[in-house]
Amino acid sequence: MVIIWIFFFLSLLQESWSPGLAAEVPQALSCAKGQTCDPRLRRDAGGRGGVYEHLGGAPRRRKLYCATKYHLQIHASGKINGTLEKNSLFLGILEITAVDVGIVAIKGLFSSRYLAMNKRGRLYASETYNAECEFVERIHELGYNTYASRLYRTVPSGANNKRKASAERLWYVSINGKGRPRRGFKTRRTQKSSLFLPRVLDNKDHEMVRLFHTNVKYRESLLKPPNKNQRRRRGH
Ligand SMILES: *[C@@H]1O[C@H](CO)[C@@H](O)[C@H](O)[C@H]1NC(C)=O
Repeated sequence: MVIIWIFFFLSLLQESWSPGLAAEVPQALSCAKGQTCDPRLRRDAGGRGGVYEHLGGAPRRRKLYCATKYHLQIHASGKINGTLEKNSLFLGILEITAVDVGIVAIKGLFSSRYLAMNKRGRLYASETYNAECEFVERIHELGYNTYASRLYRTVPSGANNKRKASAERLWYVSINGKGRPRRGFKTRRTQKSSLFLPRVLDNKDHEMVRLFHTNVKYRESLLKPPNKNQRRRRGH
C-alpha cells in the first residue's frame, strides 16, 4: 500500500516538473552549432515580432532595424555593426528566441553567432551561448523594441543607494548614426540608437536563406573562416 502511494506521489512530481524542464531547454540551445533547426515560422501579433513568445518556442526570423536607419549585423568574425545595405543583408538575418519571460537570445542565422554584451558594455558576436547573450526585450512606442543586457547594468553605488534609487540604468544594444555599436553604459532607452524595429523577412531575404541552406558554394562565398584573433574582442 505504501509503495503504491509512493509511486503515485512520484508520478505527480514528475508531471509537475516536466513543463519546467522543457522551458529550460530553449530550442535554439538544443540545436548544434551550424545546424539548421528549421523552425516553424511563427507569426506574432502584427508580424513585427515584438511580443513575448512562449518559452522554447520557435525562433522568430527577423531583421533588427535601428531608428538610426542601420540594420544590425552579426559577423562571423565576432564583430557587431550596422549596415545601410538592404539588398545583401545576409548578416542581418537573425533568429530571436525567447529563453525566459521577456528575455531573448539573438543569433545571426548565417554567422551562427549570438549577439552578446560583455562587462565593459561592448557588443560582440559569441560563438557559444552564455549569460552575456541574454537580453531583456521591451516594447516601446511606434513598435520599436529595446534590448538590454540581462547581466550588466549601471548600479548606483552604496551610499547614494536610497537617494538615487532610480539611478540604476540598463545597458542597451545600440547602433549609432555611423553604424557602430555604442558601449552599453553610454546608452539610454530614449536614444534612437537604442530603438529597434523587428522586421519580418522579405522575398529577397527568404531567397538568400534558401540558397544558403541548399547551395554550398553560395554559403562558402558568404562565410569566410572567422579570424581567431578577433575572438578575444570580448576581453577588451
Ligand atoms: C561593418 O563591418 C564590416 C566588416 O568589418 C565593414 O566592412 C563595414 O564597413 C562595417 N560597417 C560600418 C557601417 O561600419
